Amino acid sequence: METKIKSSANKEKIGDWLPINGTDYVEFYVGNAKQSAYYYQTAFGFQPLAYSGLETGNRENVSYVLQQDKVKLVLTTPLNSKNPINQHIVKHGDGVKVISLWVEDAAKAFEETVKRGAQPFLQPTKYEDKDGYVIQSGIHIYGDTVHIFTERKNYKGIFLPGYQAWNPQYKSSPVGFKYIDHMVGNVSWGEMNTWAKFYEEVMGFYNLLTFDDKDISTEYSALMSKVMSNGNGYIKFPINEPAEGKKKSQIEEYIQFYEGQGVQHIALATDNIIETVTEMRKRGVDFLDTPESYYKTLLDRVGHIDEDIEILKKLGILVDIDEEGYLLQIFTKPVEDRPTLFYEIIQRKGAKSFGKGNFKALFESIEREQERRGNL
Ligand code: FE2
Repeated sequence: METKIKSSANKEKIGDWLPINGTDYVEFYVGNAKQSAYYYQTAFGFQPLAYSGLETGNRENVSYVLQQDKVKLVLTTPLNSKNPINQHIVKHGDGVKVISLWVEDAAKAFEETVKRGAQPFLQPTKYEDKDGYVIQSGIHIYGDTVHIFTERKNYKGIFLPGYQAWNPQYKSSPVGFKYIDHMVGNVSWGEMNTWAKFYEEVMGFYNLLTFDDKDISTEYSALMSKVMSNGNGYIKFPINEPAEGKKKSQIEEYIQFYEGQGVQHIALATDNIIETVTEMRKRGVDFLDTPESYYKTLLDRVGHIDEDIEILKKLGILVDIDEEGYLLQIFTKPVEDRPTLFYEIIQRKGAKSFGKGNFKALFESIEREQERRGNL
């Protein structure tokens, strides 16, 4: 059953101790940042923004910063075996370490969340260079993942102190990503409520939607999910946990291969999903496939849509409706060798939901992939 827990009437007031302007950046710890950066440039159309490494005086690690409209990704690789980042990569493979949130006051964000029970990761710290200063602080969330609060009102540099502009000869064209629509965390059995409560009590978020195992189940496997949102709605974090089914839940497969809890998918918003997905497919991105039968009943389910259904079928794009409009979405296959992190591409045409009507078709598609991997 999909339930709205809180009305949106007073949501602006919720969590006013932690005002968040938006997602600042997402940092991945990866085995080879140079090659990952090339993948995100070529296949996802990200633009080079900034760099830190040996050439900038950083002898510990290399970081490439990529940008597409409001989305910023940082790809980081350690430069020696002593660097603790290695442990993260050995354990999890390539994955998201940091979800950085853009705040006006990073010291206050730290103080308010730690006071409410967050585990400190980074004490408020000032980073400075000729372009001003940035204050960052951080707390632990699920698994080895962290939130870093970034205060940048006194900084006019390209990204963060210590970074230089990165302007390589090679440039690819953008594919139309605008901003991060939501980021999903996979947590262990029985942990969904723990983390929903964390976002509510520590971060001041509210429970926008809840999906139980009847919403999200196929013949074989199931999961449950709570969507947590901050007051202004700019940040949405669904939290998934596995549910009992005949076979292994996709959440369990993730946790087994990530060797812990972590970020499952990042949903990137576009204004034209047909153009975005056409371009990504051309550049070699693999998407989950959708059976032809899905499109036979599509119009009966969603009514009139602006897009040509034949084109959606050719690209494998899914459609869902809610009371406020409709949305189009599609999911990539995992972008690493381990079946862990993947991406969702989403275009909202009024709908504020998450594609509940597609869950069954989608999860059956995921299960076909799990089966091929011998993990169902
Ligand atoms: Fe999603």
